[in-house]
Amino acid sequence: MLKTDFLGMKLDNPLIVAAGPWHRDGEGLKASIKAGAGAVVTESIISDTLLDVRPHIASDGQGAQNIRLYSNIQIEGWEREMRIAKSAGGVVIASISGHTPSELAYLASKLEKFGADAIELSVSNPMSEGLEVMASHAETIYEMTRAIVESVNIPVIVKLSQNTTNISKVAKAARSAGCSCVSAINTVRGILQIDLENARPTLSSYGGISGEYIRPLGLASVATILQTVDVPVSGIGGISTGRHALEYIMLGASTIQVGTAVMVGGRPVIGNILKEMESWMKDHKIKSPDEIRGKALKNLKSFDEMKHEPAVSTVTGVACREDCEKCVTCCIYDAVVRDGGTVRVDRNRCMGCGLCTFLCPENKLSLGW
Ligand SMILES: Cc1cc2nc3c(=O)[nH]c(=O)nc-3n(C[C@H](O)[C@H](O)[C@H](O)COP(=O)(O)O)c2cc1C
Ligand code: SF4
Ligand code: SF4
Repeated sequence: MLKTDFLGMKLDNPLIVAAGPWHRDGEGLKASIKAGAGAVVTESIISDTLLDVRPHIASDGQGAQNIRLYSNIQIEGWEREMRIAKSAGGVVIASISGHTPSELAYLASKLEKFGADAIELSVSNPMSEGLEVMASHAETIYEMTRAIVESVNIPVIVKLSQNTTNISKVAKAARSAGCSCVSAINTVRGILQIDLENARPTLSSYGGISGEYIRPLGLASVATILQTVDVPVSGIGGISTGRHALEYIMLGASTIQVGTAVMVGGRPVIGNILKEMESWMKDHKIKSPDEIRGKALKNLKSFDEMKHEPAVSTVTGVACREDCEKCVTCCIYDAVVRDGGTVRVDRNRCMGCGLCTFLCPENKLSLGW
C-alpha cells in the first residue's frame, strides 16, 4: 500500500530515516532498515577530522537542540560501514557536507563506489556561521551541486535550510545545477531553553532546533518550493506520527524524513508511523500515497488571492459543557457569550477571525458567510 517510486529507486514506503548520529555507522543504518524504513540517510560525511563538543544534544521531549556536527568516521572508513548498511538490503543515501565543490565531488564519487544509492548534500549547519551563510548563497549551491552531479551517476538530493530569506531561489539553483530532488528542512538555528537557576542556555552555543517546534516551518518550506520550482521534494521537520507524514505528502512531498522522533523514541517509532499512515489510508479508502500527494497544495493560496468577504462564526445557542469557557475566553472581539447551558455568538461583534472554531474541543463552532 505504501510502496513508493523515489527518483527511480523502489522504496517499500516513503518513510526515510534522516541524517543524524543514529546513523553514525553501518550498524545504525542497518537497524533502521530492519525496523522498516523505506530508506536511510547517513550522518553527514566530511573530509576533515571532527572534534565533538560535549554535551551536544538537548531535548525537552517535544523537540531538540543539537550542536553535533558530522560523522566521526573518515571517508575511507565508510567503505566498511556502507557494506554493513547495505547487507540489510535497503536503500542507503549518503549525506555529505563540505566547503568546496571539488571536496564534495570527491566525497560523492567515493561513496558511490562504496555502494550508496543516492547522495544528499547538506548545505547548512545552524551552529557554524560559515555554512549558514552558504545555505542562502544560490551561486555557491549551484556550483557545489553541479560538481557532485557531474561526478556521480546516482541521484543527487540537496538538503536545504529554512534559515534563508528565499528558499525558492536556493532550490531553483540546485535544480538548475541538475539535482534530482531537494529535501527540506534541516534544523533551524535556535536556543532550546534557559536554565534560570544557573543563568545558562541548555547548550553552550546556538544549535539546530528539530522536532515538534519546526514542523510548521518544514511544511511551509515544502509548499513554497513546490509552488515555485519543478522538483521532487523530500519533506522533513517535526514528523512523529502517521498524520504528520501524510500532511507533508498531501502538500506534495514525494517522501518524508524522520529524525528527532526516532532519536527520542527509538526505532519502534518507524513502525508506528507506518501503521498510522496505513490505517488512515484504509479508513479513507486510499490505495497509494500517489492518490493524495499534492491535494492540499491546491488549496494553499497566496494572501493576495484570498477572499475578503465577511465571515462570521455560526454558533447560536448550542448546548455546551458546563466546564468549558474556551470560546468565550479566546474571543478577543468579545462576541461569544455564555447563556446558562448554551453559548451564543453576537453576529454584530464577530469579526470572523476563526480562532474559536480551532479551539473548541467539541467542534461546535464553524465559520460561514
Ligand atoms: C542530533 C542531530 C544531528 C543531526 N545531524 C545531521 C547531519 O549530520 N546531517 C544532516 O543533513 N542533518 C542532520 N540533522 C538534521 C536532521 O536530519 C533533520 O533534518 C532535522 O532534525 C529535522 O527533522 P526532525 O524534526 O524529524 O528531527 C541532525 C539532527 C539532529 C537532531
Ligand atoms: S470567529 Fe473570532 S470574532 Fe467570531 S466569535 Fe469566534 S473568536 Fe470571536
Ligand atoms: S469552546 Fe466549544 S465546548 Fe467550549 S463553551 Fe465554547 S462552544 Fe462550548
